[in-house]
Amino acid sequence: MSEVLRNTLVKLQALIGLIGLAALTPLLILAAILSRLIAKLCRCPKPKSIEGEVAVVTGAGHGLGRAISLELAKKGCHIAAVDINLSGAENTVKQIQETYNVRAKAYKANVTNHGELTELNNKVVADLGPVTVLINNAGVMLHRNILNPDPADVQLMIDVNLTSHFWTKMVFLPPMKALRKGFIVTISSLAGVFPLPYSTAYTTSKAGTMAHMRALRMELALEKQKNIHVTTVLPTFLRTNDEITQMSNTIGIEEIYPLISGEEVAHRVVEGMLRGEHEITLPDLASVLYRLLFLLPIDWQMRMTLLLTGSRFKEFTKMRS
Ligand SMILES: NC(=O)c1ccc[n+]([C@@H]2O[C@H](COP(=O)([O-])OP(=O)(O)OC[C@H]3O[C@@H](n4cnc5c(N)ncnc54)[C@H](O)[C@@H]3O)[C@@H](O)[C@H]2O)c1
Ligand SMILES: *[C@@H]1O[C@H](CO)[C@@H](O)[C@H](O)[C@H]1NC(C)=O
Ligand SMILES: *[C@@H]1O[C@H](CO)[C@@H](O)[C@H](O)[C@H]1NC(C)=O
Ligand SMILES: *[C@@H]1O[C@H](CO)[C@@H](O)[C@H](O)[C@H]1NC(C)=O
Repeated sequence: MSEVLRNTLVKLQALIGLIGLAALTPLLILAAILSRLIAKLCRCPKPKSIEGEVAVVTGAGHGLGRAISLELAKKGCHIAAVDINLSGAENTVKQIQETYNVRAKAYKANVTNHGELTELNNKVVADLGPVTVLINNAGVMLHRNILNPDPADVQLMIDVNLTSHFWTKMVFLPPMKALRKGFIVTISSLAGVFPLPYSTAYTTSKAGTMAHMRALRMELALEKQKNIHVTTVLPTFLRTNDEITQMSNTIGIEEIYPLISGEEVAHRVVEGMLRGEHEITLPDLASVLYRLLFLLPIDWQMRMTLLLTGSRFKEFTKMRS
């Protein structure tokens, strides 16, 4: 058979596959909605217990990382509070020890540094035991100059928000695989599915971590690691960071959707993690919204998004320049 003919046949086969999938899609959507509804009604799968297990929380010294640390401690999990700002992490540990009867310890580490994370893991295992919960939360938010960011700022954003997830995975996943259990939670952002203009490093890092976790989930499925759960969290703007709160007030983000508190996110995240949910958007309905938008051609997706939010981004650029 000539190569031209073979390639034509393969393309034909792909086209038939596509038509078949399109025909099946309404049924698949119905099945997905029904299984979701049933899961909601029977409140299953039942949340797992992490009592007595050890969690590493990065960026635990402030905001969402602190709120998630407290929520995990409430479930009886021992906490390694990791932050580049040691006093922030110590503060979190103090709050945990005042309220919950678990072991907690503060560690200083820079998540962009693979060597520091290896050392961190050794210390945590010696102090608290093997790590079976990893919360990838550390992040940097804003460039000093958003319209014209310094190359070093862009690099730092990508290092902290995108590359660090490879380092934490390389250090903490192999022991989980050996134990055949664990939870990995990655804090992404709705910016991963609704791109933010003038925040391209942020948007890139958030879309990147979401894609990273989707590929990782497939690897774990192929390796039959059914007891290692990967949860990606895509929240809207949070009230955890003063700078973000101030910016949101100025550009009127709250008129689109109110900012959510770290505690609210932490509660939803830990609950979702323990039920093995894959992706959590906050608010929940945003997951439906982005899927509806994704059905449109790209130029229409952009038109609709700009129609809803364009004027606010203009305010944003005025404010930051
Ligand atoms: N605030 C929002 O509106 C918002 C929206 C969507 C997603 N998020 C995400 O939620 C997560 C937490 O946000 P937050 O508002 O709580 O942030 P935050 O600024 O309040 O806290 C971040 C913590 O991470 C630590 N950190 C920063 N760089 C680090 C490094 N290299 N190594 C170790 N620790 C480091 C900081 O010291 C700080 O304690 C981030 O990943 C952020 O991208 C936030
Ligand atoms: C570190 O954390 C402490 C305590 O939470 C805080 O007061 C301080 O401003 C933080 N330092 C930096 C550089 O963020
Ligand atoms: C963390 O590490 C990165 C790269 O290794 C570096 O650019 C950054 O300054 C470090 N942060 C701190 C606070 O030391
Ligand atoms: C980096 O990640 C943190 C936490 O996930 C997030 O709050 C922040 O907005 C991110 N910043 C960028 C530039 O991606």
